[in-house]
Amino acid sequence: MTSTIVLLHAFPLNKSLWDGVTGPVAEAGWDVVVPDLRGFGESSFGGEDLDDEPDLAWMARDVLEILDRIGVEQAVIAGSSMGGYVAMELFRQAPQRVSGLVLIDTKATADTDEARANRLRVADQVESAGSTEALSRAMLPNLVGVTTHDTRADVVEQVRTWILEADPYGVAWAQRAMAARPDSHATLANVSVPALVLWGSEDAISPRPEQDSMVAALPRSRAVEIPGCGHLAPIESPDAVSAALVEFLASI
Ligand code: MLT
Repeated sequence: MTSTIVLLHAFPLNKSLWDGVTGPVAEAGWDVVVPDLRGFGESSFGGEDLDDEPDLAWMARDVLEILDRIGVEQAVIAGSSMGGYVAMELFRQAPQRVSGLVLIDTKATADTDEARANRLRVADQVESAGSTEALSRAMLPNLVGVTTHDTRADVVEQVRTWILEADPYGVAWAQRAMAARPDSHATLANVSVPALVLWGSEDAISPRPEQDSMVAALPRSRAVEIPGCGHLAPIESPDAVSAALVEFLASI
């Protein structure tokens, strides 16, 4: 029986984040679904939903619709950072559709008041400038780890290019949606399927205590730390992410 895994990208990137991971996972016998979340990459916004408050629930519904359309009843849902927030929201909406959960460089906590205010300020700034240039300058230092900054100029440039290519409207929408997300620890406590929590040891955006609290909340989790890697493990350490995913998938 073939099984399906969905890979959800981080903010403010696109599905190419997973380019170094999809091959090894497919070779291990898995069907890999890699969407651009709404407002990013090739995914534009719908119609009527634009009038509603930005909410990651829309992104989770989009993923469920994709699964419906391709006739997949259950899948492993894997998300990197914002993709992890969407994965947790998808589990809230449709736990019966999730056969395994993979949380990469993400967190279950909601924003503090300060972080929320900062997101809303950034959303307004990006929207009024019609550009993600200031955002790329602000985010890049923390988005990848020290080791990547020191040794992988190609990765840093790739991430910068993705941010500059991102649609300012999609970026503003996602910032407002992330600002509204709830704490997900109670959700994780209800995840009875196997889960993998994976993070880069140099992740400055979702640091170690965030990872430990997700591992503690999940009833059936395994934890993998990738050394010398920052917040964007799928592009900073694709081989280590692929190996951890393939091992996890073989176990479920
Ligand atoms: C991401 O990488 O998706 C973002 O850092 C998530 C966030 O801003 O919380």
